[in-house]
Amino acid sequence: MLKDQAATLRALAARRASQVRQLHPSRVIVVASGKGGVGKTNIAVNLGIAWAERGLQVALLDADMGLANVDIVLGINPRYNLSHVISGERTLKEVMVTGPLGLKIIAGGSGIAELADIGQKQLESFIDGLEELDQSLDVLLVDTSAGISRSVLSFALASDEILVVATPDPTSLTDAYGLIKVLAIRNHPAQLRVIVNMCEGDKHGEEVFHKLDSVSQRFLSRKLDWAGSIPRDRMVQRAVREFQPFYIAYPRCKAAMAIGQIADGLLSEQPASIARPVISANAGGIGDLFRKVLKFVR
Ligand SMILES: Nc1ncnc2c1ncn2[C@@H]1O[C@H](COP(=O)(O)OP(=O)(O)OP(=O)(O)O)[C@@H](O)[C@H]1O
Ligand SMILES: [Mg+2]
Repeated sequence: MLKDQAATLRALAARRASQVRQLHPSRVIVVASGKGGVGKTNIAVNLGIAWAERGLQVALLDADMGLANVDIVLGINPRYNLSHVISGERTLKEVMVTGPLGLKIIAGGSGIAELADIGQKQLESFIDGLEELDQSLDVLLVDTSAGISRSVLSFALASDEILVVATPDPTSLTDAYGLIKVLAIRNHPAQLRVIVNMCEGDKHGEEVFHKLDSVSQRFLSRKLDWAGSIPRDRMVQRAVREFQPFYIAYPRCKAAMAIGQIADGLLSEQPASIARPVISANAGGIGDLFRKVLKFVR
């Protein structure tokens, strides 16, 4: 496709998205893996940037309470995090940092753990702030930590869309299966899409996906969806060393091309939240996500 045509299509898609934004809460996508170090943060950051490039308003919540993740990949250092919002010191908008191409970053910090003990009044103003965010964002991506901790599960169980990141490494597949199993046992109805990262090519990635999907269907009666694969690409490591997202630093590298394809593929699918008619107290989106998270952490 000609570059101009592609740009026109993107502009149309962005206009449509912003019309949808007026009426509907944000699409929320939680990125999780089971095993650590499989590329969740890099995928979340670069996918967010790819969508921002396509004209969407995107925010990325760093819900990893361990080492600051998103900060490192982006080379930024947010001063405030959700914990300041919960304490009332800052508003959600003040906590958000603007990254490349307008991608918004929200550092979770210790805020997510603190949600467990906040009072009703603080809670209400916190949820009000989140619902305001629903009006201005198209997508909220949530980057989670490794393992199946209570916090990771809370976000996964609260979301309608989960991106499971796995690599061809057997331990990564076992851990991804473990995560899917925990969600399946709880009959969580979310759409589970798999990204195979650090594979040798598309065919290899798809083979790995089919393995995971067939085990999941056989033992958990749970069908998985294919989001795409990202090849092992040394430009990713180089960009990480340079504190830059690879989608921006090396836009022609294989990993960046793969992210672009995954971004387009996910956009072309109609999420359940957009199919809902209008915003109501329980119509999905960011406010609803946190309401559900709270049920699991309190
Ligand atoms: N497609 C890729 N090709 C090559 N290296 C990659 C690729 N994806 C990720 N990596 C490497 O893996 C490292 C870990 O990636 P990342 O921090 O995104 O993983 P994570 O799943 O978020 O880890 P954690 O569980 O610790 O949060 C990166 O520093 C990068 O060097
Ligand atoms: Mg990470």
